[in-house]
Amino acid sequence: MQVCKQKGDLTCLQQQSLQGCCGMGHTRWATHGMASVVNAHPHVSCGGKVVVVHNGIIENYQQLKAELQQKGCTFASQTDTEVVANWLEYTLQQNQQNMHNALQQFMRVAQGSYALVVWFAGALHTLYAVKKDSPLVVGQGPQEAMLASDISALSSSIQRVYVMQNFEYACVTNQHIKIYNQKGKAIKIKYMPKPLQNTFFHKHNYTHYLEKEIYEQPQAVEKTLAYMLPKQKLTVSTLGLTRAYCKQVQHVLFLGCGSAYHVGVTLAQVVQQIAGVSAQAVCASEFRYGTFVLPKHTVVVAISQSGETADTLASVVKAKQMGCFTLGVVNAMHSSISREVHHAIYTQAGPEISVATTKAYSAQLVVGYVLALVLAREKRALHCKNLQTLLTELKKIPSYIAQVLQQRQTIQHIAKQYFQQSQMFLVGRALDYATLLEGALKIKEVSYIHAEAYPSGELKHGPISLIEPNTLLLACLTQPDIAEKTISNMVEAQSRGAQLVAITTSPLPQGIKHVSILLPPVLPLFSASVAIVPMQLLSYELSLCKGTNIDKPRNLAKSVTVE
Ligand code: F6R
Repeated sequence: MQVCKQKGDLTCLQQQSLQGCCGMGHTRWATHGMASVVNAHPHVSCGGKVVVVHNGIIENYQQLKAELQQKGCTFASQTDTEVVANWLEYTLQQNQQNMHNALQQFMRVAQGSYALVVWFAGALHTLYAVKKDSPLVVGQGPQEAMLASDISALSSSIQRVYVMQNFEYACVTNQHIKIYNQKGKAIKIKYMPKPLQNTFFHKHNYTHYLEKEIYEQPQAVEKTLAYMLPKQKLTVSTLGLTRAYCKQVQHVLFLGCGSAYHVGVTLAQVVQQIAGVSAQAVCASEFRYGTFVLPKHTVVVAISQSGETADTLASVVKAKQMGCFTLGVVNAMHSSISREVHHAIYTQAGPEISVATTKAYSAQLVVGYVLALVLAREKRALHCKNLQTLLTELKKIPSYIAQVLQQRQTIQHIAKQYFQQSQMFLVGRALDYATLLEGALKIKEVSYIHAEAYPSGELKHGPISLIEPNTLLLACLTQPDIAEKTISNMVEAQSRGAQLVAITTSPLPQGIKHVSILLPPVLPLFSASVAIVPMQLLSYELSLCKGTNIDKPRNLAKSVTVE
């Protein structure tokens, strides 16, 4: 067995060449110990017999480590994964143990989450794998087999795929794949054909995936709307609901992390306004450990691009235990969340490669708009004519997004002027504030500029003390009835030296010095879908000016499978 590790990105590994016909690789998300060569996977047991790669967290690793140390095992790294390698090696050395028994025993002993691939010096042409709560798929091609955390990571030669379930383990060679349950009983593998998706992996004429995916938004939204509105009509069945149940719904709870949570913040307001049903958004990481009293007929909507976010997945499990009906708004088919929820709705954004999400965010929003309209119709909260008007406005969103994408030059100018700033403020009210939360996250994560969103009325309760001469204050004004309030807050900040940029559906009154990004006449209720686009472009342009790693910002991963 040859092991090669590097710190940095995959190009560092490409310079090394390893020979062989069986192997494993891993890009590490540092959970225990810093990002260093010694902490990088694969981890080799102290006797050199077992090699493992691991996604997830072994929660009782310290206890296991102490026990192993007492038995004479030594450790080189600070990771929980090395404990697995040593634990398996030690167990295999005991009488009558083979890898099957060792893995079955491991599942009884280990706490936490794991997708593990194990290589054992006694069987160099076999890979073993075991999983609990972290995703793992196995794929078969004409002459090879592969394991990966995601279907999209499998090579194009793979023809059929099996998504492993919790407490299953696999024994894989290039000739055969065998899957066993926790008791060691072989199970019949139900393969599915590997979905075709390779065209998404080309950047075409774009420099970065982020840029490409920002420009793919009109199609992503259009396709998702077509999926949500079969024959252009509202139906309860796309939502997995019945008309009778819709009438009973008392509360809608949106759960998600990061951008997906921001989608929920917007949708909670939209559902209340359109359907008159109480709604809220909670970060999945807060929901899973918090106390929440939910009305009897609560629909929980779990939003996730990857469908694998550990906190969102755990929140779905909790919501089901609380007796809620769970809906998943998921982009990745066959993902863990889509299998866990009562009903999965698939956004039609196509695979998203850039770590920072854009097109999935936009697709998730329109799914929620349709949910709001369906609830409104079934609860008779809206007059038919108004419902029809909203549907017509909904269908205009893709073309509005396309119009905003043409304002790239104005945004480039803004980026060139402000990319050296260390902080920015984004202000707006109600739905605008919800959109700005996402705008600020985009700017932060890709350009590394500290951008913070505030409800504009909150500015004078503290943050205004941070305004210095030339600080950028970006305001969002798509809600005509409250726009004037935000304009007053902008002027207050300007008199303390702030430079103003407005993303707005109506020109600002004359006399206020500012740069405007004028949006097409989107309905205020659906404004998030259009107002977010200039902020996505701004985060991209700022990052270009700064030279950051746009598609893979530092410290981030596309799929966060650990809590
Ligand atoms: C931000 C971003 C993250 C994700 C979050 C949830 O650009 O991509 O904040 O939104 O990690 O991921 P999913 O949607 O896969 O559950």
